[in-house]
Amino acid sequence: MLRLPVLATRDDLSGRPPPRPVGLDPFAWGALVDPDGRRYEYLRLSVTDRCDLACVYCMPPGGEQHHALRRELLDFDEAARLVSVFASLGIRRVRLTGGEPLVRRDVVRLVELLTRRSGLRDVVMTTNGTRLAELALPLRRAGLTGVNVSLDSLDPDRFRRITRGGELARVLAGLHAAVDAGFEVRINVVALGGQNEDEWGRLVDFAWDLGATPRFIELMPLGEASRLPATWFVPAARVVEVLGSRLLREVPGRYDPGRGPARYLEAADGSGRRVGFITAVTDTFCDRCNRVRVTARGELRPCLASARAVDLRNVMRTGGSDADVAWAVRWALGAKDRGHGFLDPARHEHVEVGMSLVGG
Ligand code: GTP
Ligand code: 5AD
Ligand code: SF4
Repeated sequence: MLRLPVLATRDDLSGRPPPRPVGLDPFAWGALVDPDGRRYEYLRLSVTDRCDLACVYCMPPGGEQHHALRRELLDFDEAARLVSVFASLGIRRVRLTGGEPLVRRDVVRLVELLTRRSGLRDVVMTTNGTRLAELALPLRRAGLTGVNVSLDSLDPDRFRRITRGGELARVLAGLHAAVDAGFEVRINVVALGGQNEDEWGRLVDFAWDLGATPRFIELMPLGEASRLPATWFVPAARVVEVLGSRLLREVPGRYDPGRGPARYLEAADGSGRRVGFITAVTDTFCDRCNRVRVTARGELRPCLASARAVDLRNVMRTGGSDADVAWAVRWALGAKDRGHGFLDPARHEHVEVGMSLVGG
């Protein structure tokens, strides 16, 4: 496996990549690997920066100020082309994100186009679930294989407060539709101190009864979340403690190779059911990061915790070839951060990252 030489410095990651050196074939270099030896097989592609909810830890009240105009978004051909380029670079799994991906007009056609053109089998989505009741089956038929659905409370009033207006019943209907459509379903719960800790056990039972896998996520101090009271943050270890002996057999954390950063613990009853934990703050997984992100505007963001980006859309719109796009990707990964600085007072770039603009 070839290691990528350091091609860019962090300060270069502010827009446009340099032209591809004459004769250089970025497809001939093997797997996508950064200078720290991390190998990339997972693309998170945001398809819109809009959302029909505005969760208090994610969106500012009233929504983001700077939504992309339609012409600024990657169009379907551009998105499908990018996914195919990434597939040629060794990407195996693509997760569609937002904002809320299901508010993108004709999203089912987009999924169909992406899967057909790239030939990838592992195309999944993270959604708030509000439109899944109608869209689960068409999405499944279009080639989507899994959905991760956000759900922080089973109490309708509390759900409405956390999501600033969301209707719990619609999400529950969406979850059932997703299971019926045959999706692998995970339920993402952000652990929120003073907000949902009394529901953690109930959320686990609810997910298990549905045939889904619940996962608890540590609140990351990105954008809006960085302005919440410190008491809202709860370490995943506290969630494990609360679920404790009732639910879990203490087995060493297990990862899903080639997948996201969650570690899983098994149910105490030996049923093989699992609970996932995403310890983004307390036990960082940056040294085994396997993910890159592309925003709805077509910027490559090598790391979630940094606003540094390279404009792939511009490479395509100025007549660049697939090799030029692939070069831009490899070049940008040369300057990927070693990890986030959530707990480092000297680093605060994550405060500038709007979660809904990047897709998590
Ligand atoms: P699977 O492939 O199903 O494991 O999905 P995933 O956990 O990678 O994706 P999902 O969109 O469900 O994300 C769950 C949480 O993990 C969200 O809060 C994401 O922001 C967070 N997350 C995913 N990848 C990364 C990452 O590379 N770094 C950080 N810090 N958080 C991540
Ligand atoms: N920290 C942790 N998780 C977050 N999410 C959104 N913002 C944050 C944050 N600041 C979650 C959503 C969704 C997933 C994509 O990320 O609830 O499940
Ligand atoms: Fe990868 Fe950055 Fe997430 Fe760390 S914070 S796992 S380096 S994307």
